[in-house]
Amino acid sequence: MNARLRLVADRAATAAPPPVEALHEEPGPDAARCLGLYAKLAAGVAVVTARGDDGPLGMTVSAVTSLSARPPLLLACLRDGSRTLAAVRARRTFAVHLLREEQQDLAGRFASPTTTAAQRFAGTDTRQILGVPVLAGSLAWSVCLTEDVRRYGDHHLVVGRVAAVHVGAGRPLLWHDRRFGSLTGPVPDAAG
Ligand SMILES: Cc1cc2nc3c(=O)[nH]c(=O)nc-3n(C[C@H](O)[C@H](O)[C@H](O)COP(=O)(O)O)c2cc1C
Repeated sequence: MNARLRLVADRAATAAPPPVEALHEEPGPDAARCLGLYAKLAAGVAVVTARGDDGPLGMTVSAVTSLSARPPLLLACLRDGSRTLAAVRARRTFAVHLLREEQQDLAGRFASPTTTAAQRFAGTDTRQILGVPVLAGSLAWSVCLTEDVRRYGDHHLVVGRVAAVHVGAGRPLLWHDRRFGSLTGPVPDAAG
């Protein structure tokens, strides 16, 4: 580091940080740049399902994460206006299915804005657990009781208390850089 750069770095390190309130008033990067950042997040792909008034509903979701073990809580971010979100709120129960790498077509179908709910579920092996449609064949699934739904910007943060769980074997389907992908190496066992 040359002397001038060192001086600038030293000043930055010792200067008092601006108050957080001041940072909130900064315009910040635009949505396109943020979406570019989010595209670099590597995520597993899930399908969230819930019971609607006219039958099962479901959508593809990559924004799913574990939140707590005691009590067992999962978190999913569902976009404003989603039909599935409306059912998650109304019925207070939903299921999260973590997809296997072979289930890319299913993920595409449950994301397509032009497919009806009936088309999404057509040909799937579905059973009811705690009144929620649960799809057979995923890597793992859980049925959750809706604990909290909170709006943040254009999405809602949904917290679910895990009420039932099944863990299978296989490799997960991944989503990165707006493309599906998968892991290499040995296939993990069900026990993980
Ligand atoms: C790989 C992938 C990941 C997605 N992740 C999310 C997500 O985390 N949250 C979300 O609201 N939508 C996500 N979507 C978009 C929804 O699946 C899509 O908007 C869907 O049509 C919503 O269905 P619904 O309105 O019937 O509930 C994702 C789509 C794809 C292809």
